[in-house]
Amino acid sequence: MSAATMDASARVSSARHADSLPSAGQGAPQPLVRAEGLAKTFDVSPPLLNRLLERKPRQLLHAVDDATFSIEKGQTLALVGESGCGKSTVARVLVGLYEPTRGSFHFDGQDAHAAFRAGGARARKLRERIQMIFQDPYASLNPRWRVSEIVAEPMREHGTVSGKAALEQRVGELLLSVGLAPADMTKYPHQFSGGQRQRISIARALATQPEFLVCDEPTSALDVSVQAQVLNIMKNLQREQGLTYLFISHNLAVVHHVSDQVGVMYLGRIVELAPKHALFSTPRHPYTRMLLDAIPKMRDTGQARTPVQGEVPNPLNPPSGCTFHPRCPHANARCAAERPQMLRYGDVQVACHAVEEGRI
Ligand SMILES: Nc1ncnc2c1ncn2[C@@H]1O[C@H](COP(=O)(O)OP(=O)(O)O)[C@@H](O)[C@H]1O
Ligand SMILES: [Mg+2]
Repeated sequence: MSAATMDASARVSSARHADSLPSAGQGAPQPLVRAEGLAKTFDVSPPLLNRLLERKPRQLLHAVDDATFSIEKGQTLALVGESGCGKSTVARVLVGLYEPTRGSFHFDGQDAHAAFRAGGARARKLRERIQMIFQDPYASLNPRWRVSEIVAEPMREHGTVSGKAALEQRVGELLLSVGLAPADMTKYPHQFSGGQRQRISIARALATQPEFLVCDEPTSALDVSVQAQVLNIMKNLQREQGLTYLFISHNLAVVHHVSDQVGVMYLGRIVELAPKHALFSTPRHPYTRMLLDAIPKMRDTGQARTPVQGEVPNPLNPPSGCTFHPRCPHANARCAAERPQMLRYGDVQVACHAVEEGRI
């Protein structure tokens, strides 16, 4: 990283820390992010008239159910799971795009959804502090805008920087902080590669000096060779600016690279939540094991990998009991009947009857 980049990021971080010291609680510091029993249900019923004529019931889709987790300042929680497990829905709830059906999300001690609902200055301040990076850097950047307008827009909207010269100066610093050049600000998105576009998205997300970044598959659309560069930029920014990340990925190798804690989601529920090293060295939940068995071994033992077996069931008609039981090699009658609770084993939490009973 160039000296200029370091310099720009250092200025950003000193500005941040001046106005947002973590609120001191009693005893242990409270985590920056705390989600408790978060749930999001979508009403996917056919229109009323069809329901009446065809005598169809209302249909509810439980996209996220009872998600509880916290993230310390400066740390990364990764959420993994196959497509349709509810990862993006968690992300959208955290940035205020969806109101949760149940549960709460506290950010730096305050009820975030109460603030989003209140609107006005309170909601705006919170939106400055929580930003999102999306998967597709092609779709998330306006193709008709120059990079300068794209990156400056959040600052204009939030009124955090005013005056043309100051905005330009700040856009230049942000571009440097993601490894682009200030001269790039006059270009349009189509003049960049996928990896560079994602850097522009990151610069834009950083424009309001957020503390918490929700990253939904930020590198999944990129070539493997570029993924590592973008991930390293994100890690450096985290270190330099004390950023907190929720990092969503279906790629466990990426998760291994970036996370401190990992939450494994299956059909809307978190089934295992563990520090990264515990999860990768001793995965407990059979679903976690299935996902890990499917990736090429980090230290290749020549052992054949086992592709992920079966597929995620229809969320409109989820299996009874533990929703993973039809795919689970350890399932018994209790698993088919009774929904497992999340239980704590040291610093690992798992929702699995077989683990609870010591069968695996
Ligand atoms: N706006 C929506 N309306 C109805 N169903 C939705 C909506 N968004 C997501 N879902 C459903 O919720 C479930 C979880 O989706 P999502 O959070 O996108 O999962 P993931 O990101 O893990 O692939 C899926 O079954 C999906 O079809
Ligand atoms: Mg998704």
